[in-house]
Amino acid sequence: MTDTFAVTELIKDLHFSCQRDQSLLKAMELAGKRCIPVGCRGGGCGLCKVQIHSGDFDCGPMSKKHVDEEARRCGQVLACRVYPLSDLTFEYRPASELASNTQQQIQ
Ligand code: FES
Repeated sequence: MTDTFAVTELIKDLHFSCQRDQSLLKAMELAGKRCIPVGCRGGGCGLCKVQIHSGDFDCGPMSKKHVDEEARRCGQVLACRVYPLSDLTFEYRPASELASNTQQQIQ
């Protein structure tokens, strides 16, 4: 069993590896990729919010101000608090776009 997973950001079609004990954001930085904005790295600022499309992952504590329960159920999470358990695909969009997508999914 491997502890390193293949991660793909779908908008920019960027690929990098992420180890089980690394956050998605940290893995992106270590790979020298730029597809998620980097802020506090601690789940508080909301800058690194992404939409997960496929794959399993664990989540650390995240600010409910930036990711409420509904958003989390829709796969919207903070990349600095996401720890992959399998290969993952995700996309980064600005927070304003994610909010309107959530509204569309709820209706
Ligand atoms: S970098 Fe601030 S919440 Fe992820």
